[in-house]
Amino acid sequence: MKKKLFIKTYGCQMNVYDSERMADILSPLGYQQVEEPDEADMIILNTCHIREKATEKVFSDLGRLRPYKEHREQQGKKTIIAVAGCVAQAEGDEIMRRAKYVDIVFGPQAYHKLPEMIAKATRQTNGVLELDFETYEKFDALPEVKNTNGISAFLTIQEGCDKFCHFCCVPYTRGAEVSRDIASITDEARRLVDLGAKEITLLGQNVNAFHGESEDGHEWGLGRLLIHLAETIPGITRWRYTTSHPRDVDEELIEAHKHERVMPYLHLPVQSGSDTILRAMNRKHTADFYREIIEKFRKVRPDIAFSSDFIVGYPGETDKDFEATVQLVKDVNYSMAYSFKYSRRPGTPAAGLANQIPESVKEERLALLQHVLFEQQTQFNLSKVGQRLPVLFDKKGRHAGQVIGRSPFLQPVHVIATERVIGHILDVDITGATQNSLTGAIVLDIPQVA
Ligand code: 5AD
Ligand code: SF4
Repeated sequence: MKKKLFIKTYGCQMNVYDSERMADILSPLGYQQVEEPDEADMIILNTCHIREKATEKVFSDLGRLRPYKEHREQQGKKTIIAVAGCVAQAEGDEIMRRAKYVDIVFGPQAYHKLPEMIAKATRQTNGVLELDFETYEKFDALPEVKNTNGISAFLTIQEGCDKFCHFCCVPYTRGAEVSRDIASITDEARRLVDLGAKEITLLGQNVNAFHGESEDGHEWGLGRLLIHLAETIPGITRWRYTTSHPRDVDEELIEAHKHERVMPYLHLPVQSGSDTILRAMNRKHTADFYREIIEKFRKVRPDIAFSSDFIVGYPGETDKDFEATVQLVKDVNYSMAYSFKYSRRPGTPAAGLANQIPESVKEERLALLQHVLFEQQTQFNLSKVGQRLPVLFDKKGRHAGQVIGRSPFLQPVHVIATERVIGHILDVDITGATQNSLTGAIVLDIPQVA
């Protein structure tokens, strides 16, 4: 009998990818993924630990699952509740202690053992805790990709991080930096093509730390891998990658952006524009080093769009430090960006610092920074009005007759068109722009299909 599986994914794209792989693993066991939690036999919360709110949400979602499980139990039905991902890795014991109705807690490197864990959980009443760090083992043990988000797919090529930025929990929850081997990446890319992908985003916590040995024994970085994939995987005309660290950008990666299939968009987090703060954060680069990299990318690909992550209110951040961040934003001119108030993550070096910044100051700085960033984003979108852009359509819009796609610069583009355009890259004349998206009209519809 088919069982229903509901996975709730929090946080980053890596978690989206991991959730898809969990569904792949569970499908031979008879679990069919459903969109709504009602009547699910297994619920997995695939969690994120990067900022406080994410963790709080997990505990409040768990609180709501308890009566759900009890209600089903009264009807003689069993529900398996699992907590996966980075909160599980960081706070596994705490979850087991606080939420006894949770059956399984497992970290990001352990989900290939899900069938085993389910078997154990059905045999024993106390929960199953699996917080291993054997990334290699996981990738070898994973089944072929089946579940993917379709037209625009994710492919993990690297996991973990050795950078140890002082604010960040990732090196502790995801473990040390590990790259997947090139042959398995290539196989998975081909498989994604068979499943209908037109665009692939290569994923890694520190994706440009990727390194692997090619078949002829050469050491490849991300630049070489991108070119190899762009040249050898038919059908994928758009390659993207995220998230990169400025320190690990090399000439080959910059040069790779000359390739027409490597998209003119780069998410390159800088966090701060102040060298004092960057040093305190253990970022291993200065603001000018970052500016120089941006210039190098612009030299090979003048239209490249940049996005970034920023943290305001890092311990010890002065008004002057903050102004340096605003200045850097003005110098770079971003197409979009994510900005956050610094959040103390337990166990990270910055959490213990005495010179924490008051919440009110963080809020004020965040609002100021976002004002500048949102204005840049709006201007960037407006600059595309009147242009003709190739758009990859991947989903229906909220309104009747509306279809949504992405420009090469990752902007959402809304058009009125038939659903038949989904899965195709079509030229769109851009007629309007807002802070968050573009609107336009398809130049030539795809030929009629019978
Ligand atoms: N507080 C605030 N933001 C954080 N990030 C990571 N750790 C923290 C933290 N402790 C942000 C960084 C990172 C993004 C994924 O999340 O900007 O690039
Ligand atoms: Fe975290 Fe820094 Fe590694 Fe990014 S580079 S995952 S911010 S430690």
